[in-house]
Amino acid sequence: MSKNILVLTGSPRKGGNTDKLADAFIAGARQAGHTAEKYTTADKKIKGCIDCKNCFQKGTACSVSDDFNELVPLLEQADMVVFATPMYWFSFPAQLKAAIDKFYSYLISKRTLKIKECALLVSGGVNDETKFEGIVKSYKLIAEFLNWKDSGIIIVPGLHDKDDILKTDGLKRAEALGGEI
Ligand SMILES: Cc1cc2nc3c(=O)[nH]c(=O)nc-3n(C[C@H](O)[C@H](O)[C@H](O)COP(=O)(O)O)c2cc1C
Repeated sequence: MSKNILVLTGSPRKGGNTDKLADAFIAGARQAGHTAEKYTTADKKIKGCIDCKNCFQKGTACSVSDDFNELVPLLEQADMVVFATPMYWFSFPAQLKAAIDKFYSYLISKRTLKIKECALLVSGGVNDETKFEGIVKSYKLIAEFLNWKDSGIIIVPGLHDKDDILKTDGLKRAEALGGEI
Protein backbone atom coordinates (compact mmCIF):
# COMPACT_ATOMS: atom_id res chain seq x y z
CA MET A 1 0.00 0.00 0.00
CA SER A 2 1.38 3.38 -1.00
CA LYS A 3 2.02 5.64 1.99
CA ASN A 4 2.30 9.36 2.43
CA ILE A 5 5.58 9.98 4.26
CA LEU A 6 6.56 13.27 5.87
CA VAL A 7 10.28 13.65 6.53
CA LEU A 8 10.92 16.30 9.19
CA THR A 9 14.54 17.40 9.08
CA GLY A 10 16.39 19.12 11.89
CA SER A 11 19.63 20.49 10.45
CA PRO A 12 20.23 24.10 9.45
CA ARG A 13 23.19 22.93 7.32
CA LYS A 14 22.10 22.79 3.67
CA GLY A 15 23.31 19.70 1.87
CA GLY A 16 24.83 18.35 5.08
CA ASN A 17 24.78 14.85 6.50
CA THR A 18 21.14 14.98 7.61
CA ASP A 19 19.93 16.44 4.34
CA LYS A 20 21.70 13.65 2.48
CA LEU A 21 20.26 11.02 4.85
CA ALA A 22 16.75 12.40 4.30
CA ASP A 23 17.21 12.46 0.51
CA ALA A 24 18.50 8.86 0.47
CA PHE A 25 15.53 7.66 2.53
CA ILE A 26 13.13 9.58 0.26
CA ALA A 27 14.71 8.07 -2.87
CA GLY A 28 14.22 4.56 -1.46
CA ALA A 29 10.66 5.27 -0.38
CA ARG A 30 9.71 6.76 -3.77
CA GLN A 31 11.22 3.78 -5.58
CA ALA A 32 8.98 1.60 -3.43
CA GLY A 33 5.96 3.57 -4.65
CA HIS A 34 5.40 5.88 -1.69
CA THR A 35 4.94 9.63 -1.65
CA ALA A 36 7.63 11.29 0.44
CA GLU A 37 8.15 14.96 1.19
CA LYS A 38 10.90 16.74 3.12
CA TYR A 39 10.05 19.57 5.53
CA THR A 40 13.09 21.49 6.75
CA THR A 41 12.22 22.82 10.20
CA ALA A 42 15.42 24.89 10.31
CA ASP A 43 14.13 27.02 7.40
CA LYS A 44 10.97 27.79 9.34
CA LYS A 45 10.06 29.99 12.23
CA ILE A 46 8.46 27.74 14.84
CA LYS A 47 8.56 28.93 18.43
CA GLY A 48 8.37 26.69 21.48
CA CYS A 49 4.95 25.73 22.86
CA ILE A 50 3.81 28.18 25.56
CA ASP A 51 1.20 25.82 27.09
CA CYS A 52 -1.65 28.33 26.60
CA LYS A 53 -3.99 25.45 25.77
CA ASN A 54 -5.79 27.54 23.16
CA CYS A 55 -5.01 24.95 20.51
CA PHE A 56 -7.56 24.85 17.67
CA GLN A 57 -9.64 27.57 19.35
CA LYS A 58 -8.72 30.51 17.19
CA GLY A 59 -9.07 28.98 13.73
CA THR A 60 -5.60 27.42 13.65
CA ALA A 61 -4.01 24.44 15.40
CA CYS A 62 -1.62 26.68 17.32
CA SER A 63 -3.06 30.01 18.37
CA VAL A 64 0.42 31.53 18.23
CA SER A 65 0.79 32.41 14.59
CA ASP A 66 3.97 30.79 13.30
CA ASP A 67 5.04 28.27 10.66
CA PHE A 68 3.74 25.29 12.67
CA ASN A 69 0.35 26.05 11.18
CA GLU A 70 1.69 25.42 7.66
CA LEU A 71 3.08 22.09 8.87
CA VAL A 72 -0.34 21.05 10.20
CA PRO A 73 -1.89 20.02 6.84
CA LEU A 74 1.23 17.96 6.07
CA LEU A 75 0.93 16.19 9.43
CA GLU A 76 -2.76 15.58 8.82
CA GLN A 77 -2.10 13.99 5.42
CA ALA A 78 0.80 11.82 6.60
CA ASP A 79 0.70 8.08 7.26
CA MET A 80 4.27 8.12 8.53
CA VAL A 81 6.69 10.66 10.00
CA VAL A 82 10.45 10.33 9.68
CA PHE A 83 12.70 12.39 11.93
CA ALA A 84 15.94 13.04 10.03
CA THR A 85 18.20 14.94 12.35
CA PRO A 86 21.65 15.71 13.62
CA MET A 87 22.13 15.03 17.31
CA TYR A 88 22.59 18.30 19.21
CA TRP A 89 23.60 17.98 22.86
CA PHE A 90 22.54 14.33 22.84
CA SER A 91 19.02 15.28 21.78
CA PHE A 92 16.97 16.91 19.02
CA PRO A 93 18.01 20.35 17.67
CA ALA A 94 15.80 23.19 18.94
CA GLN A 95 14.20 23.85 15.53
CA LEU A 96 12.92 20.29 15.18
CA LYS A 97 12.09 20.02 18.88
CA ALA A 98 9.90 23.13 18.67
CA ALA A 99 7.84 21.47 15.92
CA ILE A 100 7.56 18.26 17.97
CA ASP A 101 6.53 20.28 21.04
CA LYS A 102 3.58 21.63 19.08
CA PHE A 103 2.25 18.12 18.40
CA TYR A 104 0.82 18.93 21.85
CA SER A 105 -2.02 20.80 20.12
CA TYR A 106 -3.47 17.42 19.06
CA LEU A 107 -3.28 16.13 22.61
CA ILE A 108 -4.93 19.18 24.15
CA SER A 109 -7.72 19.27 21.57
CA LYS A 110 -8.15 15.47 21.71
CA ARG A 111 -7.71 15.22 17.94
CA THR A 112 -6.08 12.28 16.32
CA LEU A 113 -3.68 12.14 13.42
CA LYS A 114 -3.75 9.20 11.02
CA ILE A 115 0.01 8.72 11.41
CA LYS A 116 0.70 5.08 12.28
CA GLU A 117 4.45 4.73 12.09
CA CYS A 118 7.74 6.60 12.31
CA ALA A 119 11.48 6.27 11.84
CA LEU A 120 14.61 8.02 13.09
CA LEU A 121 17.64 8.89 10.98
CA VAL A 122 20.28 10.52 13.14
CA SER A 123 23.81 11.73 12.51
CA GLY A 124 26.30 12.80 15.13
CA GLY A 125 29.92 13.72 15.64
CA VAL A 126 30.81 11.23 18.32
CA ASN A 127 32.12 7.84 17.22
CA ASP A 128 30.52 5.87 20.02
CA GLU A 129 26.97 4.70 19.18
CA THR A 130 26.07 4.37 22.88
CA LYS A 131 26.22 8.19 23.11
CA PHE A 132 23.07 8.33 20.95
CA GLU A 133 20.95 6.68 23.63
CA GLY A 134 19.37 9.97 24.81
CA ILE A 135 17.91 10.93 21.44
CA VAL A 136 16.99 7.32 20.63
CA LYS A 137 15.19 6.93 23.96
CA SER A 138 13.30 10.23 23.46
CA TYR A 139 12.28 9.11 19.98
CA LYS A 140 11.11 5.72 21.26
CA LEU A 141 9.10 7.25 24.10
CA ILE A 142 7.45 9.73 21.71
CA ALA A 143 6.56 6.89 19.34
CA GLU A 144 5.20 4.74 22.16
CA PHE A 145 3.20 7.62 23.62
CA LEU A 146 1.64 8.50 20.27
CA ASN A 147 1.05 4.85 19.43
CA TRP A 148 3.23 5.06 16.33
CA LYS A 149 5.08 1.92 15.29
CA ASP A 150 8.85 2.37 15.15
CA SER A 151 9.75 1.25 11.63
CA GLY A 152 13.49 1.74 11.98
CA ILE A 153 16.37 3.65 13.49
CA ILE A 154 19.52 4.54 11.58
CA ILE A 155 22.42 5.98 13.56
CA VAL A 156 25.40 7.37 11.68
CA PRO A 157 28.22 8.31 14.06
CA GLY A 158 31.55 10.07 13.44
CA LEU A 159 30.28 12.89 11.18
CA HIS A 160 31.66 16.41 11.46
CA ASP A 161 32.03 17.98 8.01
CA LYS A 162 28.98 18.16 5.81
CA ASP A 163 30.11 15.47 3.35
CA ASP A 164 31.45 13.02 5.95
CA ILE A 165 28.45 10.75 5.49
CA LEU A 166 29.69 9.91 1.99
CA LYS A 167 32.54 7.95 3.63
CA THR A 168 30.04 5.71 5.47
CA ASP A 169 27.32 3.23 4.57
CA GLY A 170 24.70 5.57 6.11
CA LEU A 171 23.09 6.64 2.85
CA LYS A 172 22.84 3.06 1.63
CA ARG A 173 21.16 2.08 4.90
CA ALA A 174 18.75 5.03 4.74
CA GLU A 175 17.79 4.25 1.15
CA ALA A 176 17.27 0.58 2.04
CA LEU A 177 15.03 1.53 4.97
CA GLY A 178 12.99 3.79 2.66
CA GLY A 179 12.58 0.86 0.30
CA GLU A 180 11.38 -1.44 3.09
CA ILE A 181 8.54 0.82 4.22
C1 LIG B 1 25.00 22.82 18.33
C2 LIG B 1 25.58 21.47 18.02
C3 LIG B 1 25.51 20.48 18.98
C4 LIG B 1 26.01 19.21 18.71
N1 LIG B 1 25.92 18.25 19.67
C5 LIG B 1 26.41 17.02 19.42
C6 LIG B 1 26.31 15.98 20.40
O1 LIG B 1 25.77 16.16 21.48
N2 LIG B 1 26.84 14.79 20.10
C7 LIG B 1 27.44 14.53 18.90
O2 LIG B 1 27.89 13.40 18.67
N3 LIG B 1 27.51 15.47 17.93
C8 LIG B 1 27.03 16.71 18.17
N4 LIG B 1 27.10 17.68 17.20
C9 LIG B 1 27.67 17.32 15.86
C10 LIG B 1 26.57 17.03 14.83
O3 LIG B 1 25.55 16.19 15.35
C11 LIG B 1 27.15 16.34 13.59
O4 LIG B 1 28.24 17.04 13.06
C12 LIG B 1 26.08 16.11 12.54
O5 LIG B 1 26.55 15.18 11.60
C13 LIG B 1 25.72 17.40 11.81
O6 LIG B 1 24.73 17.10 10.85
P1 LIG B 1 24.48 18.02 9.57
O7 LIG B 1 25.67 17.86 8.66
O8 LIG B 1 23.24 17.51 8.98
O9 LIG B 1 24.32 19.41 10.05
C14 LIG B 1 26.61 18.95 17.44
C15 LIG B 1 26.67 19.97 16.47
C16 LIG B 1 26.16 21.21 16.76
C17 LIG B 1 26.23 22.28 15.69
